[in-house]
Amino acid sequence: MKLNIYCLIMKIIIFNCIVYVDASEYKIWGPGLKPEIVMPARYFFIESIPNCDTNLLELIDLDIKIEGSKIDSNKPCRIWTNILNRNDGSYIVRYKLYEPCINVKIDIKVRGENIKGFPLTFKYIMFSEDCNCNIHNVSSFINNWECGETQTQIKEDLHLFKGIDFGKIRKRIVSTYDNPGAVSLCNYVIKNNLIYRKCYGQHVGFKMFMDNILLSLTRKVLLPDFEMFVNLGDWPLVKDTNEIFPIFSWCGSKDSFDIVMPTYDITESTLESMGRVMLDMLSVQGNVRDKWENRHPKIFWRGRDSSRERLKLIEISRQYPDLFNVSLTNFFFFRNEMEKYGPTSKHVSFYDFFDYKYQINLDGTVAAYRFPYLLAGGSLVFKQDSKYYEFFYNNLKSNMHYIPIKQDLSDLIEKIKWAVENDEEAKTIGMHGRDFANDNLLPKNIFCYHVQLFNEYSKKVTSTVEIVEGMEMVKSSRREKCNCNYNMKDEL
Ligand SMILES: *[C@@H]1O[C@H](CO)[C@@H](O)[C@H](O)[C@H]1NC(C)=O
Ligand SMILES: *[C@@H]1O[C@H](CO)[C@@H](O)[C@H](O)[C@H]1NC(C)=O
Repeated sequence: MKLNIYCLIMKIIIFNCIVYVDASEYKIWGPGLKPEIVMPARYFFIESIPNCDTNLLELIDLDIKIEGSKIDSNKPCRIWTNILNRNDGSYIVRYKLYEPCINVKIDIKVRGENIKGFPLTFKYIMFSEDCNCNIHNVSSFINNWECGETQTQIKEDLHLFKGIDFGKIRKRIVSTYDNPGAVSLCNYVIKNNLIYRKCYGQHVGFKMFMDNILLSLTRKVLLPDFEMFVNLGDWPLVKDTNEIFPIFSWCGSKDSFDIVMPTYDITESTLESMGRVMLDMLSVQGNVRDKWENRHPKIFWRGRDSSRERLKLIEISRQYPDLFNVSLTNFFFFRNEMEKYGPTSKHVSFYDFFDYKYQINLDGTVAAYRFPYLLAGGSLVFKQDSKYYEFFYNNLKSNMHYIPIKQDLSDLIEKIKWAVENDEEAKTIGMHGRDFANDNLLPKNIFCYHVQLFNEYSKKVTSTVEIVEGMEMVKSSRREKCNCNYNMKDEL
């Protein structure tokens, strides 16, 4: 009631054309406002605090300019700015530096007026992702980036290991898992912030993902020396039928002991955002076309036939066509059942998923790596129970951030019907899912997780860290764009 009166007063003021632009109406925050935080694409959020529905910030009201100068001349440096509209009065601003810049100015105007606190100008050099000119130690990195406490998942994964002595276990790890064709494993050494590796197995192309994140990290932070083994395959490796070795994997499971890292998928989308990769945790939010109320109350799903339950989903959907728009996109594992579960449908953009209120996350061969993007889209996610997990599942709460469904999907219909009948609650859970994604799964979080994980892990390694025979050095394939020989007097 109070709010309505307030809105009425606001409307009168607006009606009389007295519109005040006040900083208190906007919340602006994010790592992109801190110049020392170097990312492939820096980002921050602008949210208007709505007093009433009519008061939401429109893109046409906003004028955002980010510019700076080259370091050795007064010419403008190359910055690309990208504004993502979340269609709810909030925006994500991303900008990518293609070279080091100085005097970077972030200017935000609303209806021609500067927002309080802006323009914001950074006097000292801002480095681009390709530079390794300003490397922090781990503690100052964690501090600057506001990484917070070490994640519970990291603690749980590492607590099994007391003192890791590679002098004793390296050969045994290799002989236990060296099974070319079935297992692909790389042995990495980080020493003096340089990266070395040796891989075992036939299909080691995915080492590229591990190389890329390590290279990006060593441009930003002085990593401690350590040695590790990375599993490049889908399935976690370390079962208690063998000795429990420390092996890093992208997917964990309740019946294995692998140390989990953010998946290569979300990590690569972090490193290549505003670059090679179209779909990332921020772009997905800026390409959602409609707010909750206008989305279709159906489950939308596309994917390949990589588990029996995916076929079962198709079967269930045929009994309840009003509740589903689902189909398989290709057959590989169950080709002989194509007739029953086909036809396949053609590829749709991931952004189209969010024309629908409900999403479903079904395991494929392991955990489905699309889960972070599903959460970010703000629809309600139904998640199949599974023994597989990713690095962030530990922080997720069922029925708060998503709706759990039984592994065999037997309660799926009942749960969708609940969502249809309880639209407000369904919407709230969808919003909590998106908030979770923004608090835990953005580029900042992905970098922080890796740094904290490798830092904590390195404390467990007791053997001296030496380059192992047969290792090659991992070098950046990018052209070095910085020579770092700036006059740093003006710097911080
Ligand atoms: C890390 O760097 C900060 C800032 O440069 C410095 O004050 C601190 O002593 C360093 N810490 C360690 C452990 O070297
Ligand atoms: C299902 O989704 C596809 C892709 O968005 C769309 O072309 C099709 O019309 C939808 N089918 C129904 C029955 O709504």
